[in-house]
Amino acid sequence: MAAHRSPSMAFRLIPAASKTFTTFRSSSSSNCSISSLLRGDGLSRGRAFGWGLGGSRGAASAAACSPSDPAQLRSARGDIRELLKTTFCHPILVRLGWHDAGTYNKSIEEWPRRGGANGSVRFDKELKHAANAGLVNALKLLQPVKDKYSGVTYADLFQLASATAVEEAGGPKIPMKYGRVDVSGPEQCPEEGRLPAAGTPSPAAHLRDIFYRMGLNDKDIVALSGAHTLGRASPERSGWGKPETKYTKDGPGRPGGQSWTPQWLKFDNSYFKEIKERRDADLLVLPTDASLFEDPSFKVYAEKYAVDEDAFFKDYAEAHAKLSNQGAKFDPPEGISIEHH
Ligand code: HEM
Repeated sequence: MAAHRSPSMAFRLIPAASKTFTTFRSSSSSNCSISSLLRGDGLSRGRAFGWGLGGSRGAASAAACSPSDPAQLRSARGDIRELLKTTFCHPILVRLGWHDAGTYNKSIEEWPRRGGANGSVRFDKELKHAANAGLVNALKLLQPVKDKYSGVTYADLFQLASATAVEEAGGPKIPMKYGRVDVSGPEQCPEEGRLPAAGTPSPAAHLRDIFYRMGLNDKDIVALSGAHTLGRASPERSGWGKPETKYTKDGPGRPGGQSWTPQWLKFDNSYFKEIKERRDADLLVLPTDASLFEDPSFKVYAEKYAVDEDAFFKDYAEAHAKLSNQGAKFDPPEGISIEHH
């Protein structure tokens, strides 16, 4: 078992330097106006950590913000691609998108109480949840993009960044749609505890509890877990992983942490191969990762993905889109495509 648990679950949130706001004004009247943002949806400063994302004064603008603009979404995607080239932040952007979406509870009908991809993770209140340790860094990377495109909601930006990161790392094209509406204040954040824990006594049962609640199935659980082909765990963030390994000590980007795969910036099926073989103590296997080859139903998919990358890519793309849509509120209801036909 390669997983190493640090005794300290403490996490660090780094206050951002003060920043300037440059805004790109959309010509479409249906988008968030600067004034509506100033009323509290985007430009007020975060209270607890003072790093400038999503302040706490949202109530006044509850109805003010409307959906994303297709032209701006496409430009924002270009900016995200540039950001990825210089910062190698693919993994944390994928994690951010997942943590915004993964709060969805299909038994709750009412939006936004049901959770899902609604931009709520930008608020300090939710960012402080233990599961989100370290994600402040992803928000800091994306804030300049948000500042430039007032016609892109946070909820869309997080999902756009995640899908773009998967694609740019060599993963499948995700059939995404946009138009997600943002929550407007921290009082709309979900309670803590909706995301999975890596180290419960019955990991497979725990994964089912959490992912079935999101309306996902066993195939989705295994396919989505394959996102751990990217990135690392760090003791000072989640409490999991080694401080550094031969694969992470030199970065690229921030050095350190323990990855699941040797090439942790490449999206492929090596996660399943490594978890199956456990050949290298420098690679991470969380209890939840291990359960994919232990539980009889999960194992069928895990074995398949270890030998068939096309099957993994197909199922991953489908599950990723599902995760990113369920719980979200779209305006227009059918969503917006940003692909050229
Ligand atoms: C199945 C239940 C899951 C558990 C228990 C879990 C747990 C974790 C933990 C403990 C970390 C380390 C965080 C850190 O120390 O910075 C992590 C990282 C990560 N997770 Fe998961 N995760 C799960 C599912 C997912 C899913 C569904 C996705 C995406 C579809 C995902 C994407 C990632 C990525 C990309 C990273 C690396 C982040 C980085 O390098 O900064 N995880 N996860």
